[in-house]
Amino acid sequence: MHITRTIDETRTAIAAAKAHGRRVGFVPTMGYLHEGHLSLVRAARENGADFVVVSIFVNPKQFGPNEDFDRYPRDEERDRRSLEQEGVDLLFIPSVEVMYPEDSTTMVSAGAVARPLEGQRRPGHFEGVATIVLKLFNIVQPDVAVFGRKDAQQCSVIARMVEDLDVPVRLVFAETVREGDGLARSSRNTYLTPEQRELAPVLHRALRAGEEALTRGVEHVETVEQLMLKIAAETPGVEVDYLALVDPRTFARPADFYRDLLLAGAVRIGKTRLIDNIAVSRASMPHTRGRG
Ligand code: PAF
Repeated sequence: MHITRTIDETRTAIAAAKAHGRRVGFVPTMGYLHEGHLSLVRAARENGADFVVVSIFVNPKQFGPNEDFDRYPRDEERDRRSLEQEGVDLLFIPSVEVMYPEDSTTMVSAGAVARPLEGQRRPGHFEGVATIVLKLFNIVQPDVAVFGRKDAQQCSVIARMVEDLDVPVRLVFAETVREGDGLARSSRNTYLTPEQRELAPVLHRALRAGEEALTRGVEHVETVEQLMLKIAAETPGVEVDYLALVDPRTFARPADFYRDLLLAGAVRIGKTRLIDNIAVSRASMPHTRGRG
C-alpha cells in the first residue's frame, strides 16, 4: 500500500493508476477504523473500483468549539495495518497544514438539507464536511466514492453538493455495520465506559420502535416520535438530543406517509454523543402495499 501525505504525490499516484485504466474508488475517513470503514472499502470494489484510495484526516472544520476534535481517537499504525490487510492501494494522510494552508478561506455552503437535526445542533458542521469532501474529491477525482449510511444527513448533504456543483463522481451509500446488540459501529463508541456501553443500544431500540409503528400503519409524526422518546426515557443515563421522523431527501418533517421515510436519532451518554437512523421504505408501510 502506497502512503502519501501531500496533494502532489497523491495526484501523481492516482494519475498513474488512471493511465493504466484503473477505476478509482474512494473512501474518505477520519481514521480510528473499524469494521464499518472496512465494509466501505469492500463496497468500493463491489461497485467497480480496482484502485481503492482511503483518506484519513480528522477535519477541524467540522468540529464545533466545544466538540471532541482534540480527543478524537487516532491510531495511524493500527489503521495502516487494517487497510493493508484489506488490500487498499493508496492511503492519503494529509496534515491540517496541507489541507488548510493559512490563507485558505473558501467554504462550501451546504444548503437547506444541512439545517435541521444535526445541522441545528452542530452549527457549521456540514459546511466543514462539504468543504473537506469537495477538496478531497478534487484531489482524488474518484470514479466512485463510498460513505456510510449511519451518517444519513451527511450522505444527503454530499449527494446535494455533488448534484448542485456537477461533481463527476458516483456516490454509493453503504449499509450501517452494527454490533450484535444493534449499536451502530462508530469510532466514538470507544469513548464509552463499560457501563455506558451497556446503555448505548437503547438508541437503536428506540428507532426500531418507531419503525414498528410505521409498519403497523401509524400515520402521525408525533405519535411515532413519542413512542421512540418513551423507549429512550426508560434508560436513565441516556439524554435524548432528538428522535425524529423525517423525509430523507430534505430532513424536514415528511409531508405525507406515501414516501420513503427516515427515523433519525442522537443521544448523549455522559460526554459521548451517538447518532443512528433507520430508513423505512414505502414498500414496508401497509397503506402503500400493492400501490405503484
Ligand atoms: O464521515 C466521516 O468520517 C467524515 O465526516 C468525512 C466524510 C470523512 C469528512 O471528514
